[in-house]
Amino acid sequence: MSSEFESLEELREHIGDCRRCTLWSTRTTLVFGVGKPDAEILFVGEAPGRNEDLKGEPFVGAAGKLLDELLASIGLTRSEVYIANILKCRPPGNRDPQRNETDTCTPFLREQVRLIDPRVIVTLGKHATQFILKTDRGITGLRGTLQHSGKYDVLPIFHPAAALYDATKRDVLFEDFARLGELTAPASEVAEAQVDAVAEEPRSVQGTLFED
Ligand code: URA
Repeated sequence: MSSEFESLEELREHIGDCRRCTLWSTRTTLVFGVGKPDAEILFVGEAPGRNEDLKGEPFVGAAGKLLDELLASIGLTRSEVYIANILKCRPPGNRDPQRNETDTCTPFLREQVRLIDPRVIVTLGKHATQFILKTDRGITGLRGTLQHSGKYDVLPIFHPAAALYDATKRDVLFEDFARLGELTAPASEVAEAQVDAVAEEPRSVQGTLFED
């Protein structure tokens, strides 16, 4: 797909009542993404679940409630960030995305990234992380570490759904959000030592999804 879109609205219009893969036949609503069109932080989840499929908005169920709490912990609301998913339609029974589905759907996510041009992409859970970073590494080893894909900083974190019944993961998520707050705070608000620590972190995964 060529980069022919000048706005998220134009892209949404192009996607239309999508039937490019078979997920259209079981979805209720295509979930395009929500938030600020020029957000500094773009969250990428896996795929809509049942509530999202019904409402047409990402992360509106229990995991979304936790995401809202996490955002609030660094002084943000969802209207100040952008939230999207690898897939725009719910896989039946919330099964994992299949290769043909990601191949078909993710050119639209790439366009969203290009149009939003965020400072940081936060990948939620294993599927989004492995897709964006083009890696087989697990989320447990990558979470909370600053990675890169082309010109974008990428911060992998646990999927909020994985933390709903696991207090340890929940604590880790709040820690990783504190890190996100540091990464995106205006330089004047960040202690020099923290800036140095981020700058010196080794580039352990070289993503190739996005161009420099
Ligand atoms: N889980 C996701 O990965 N995305 C959503 O939108 C909802 C739940």
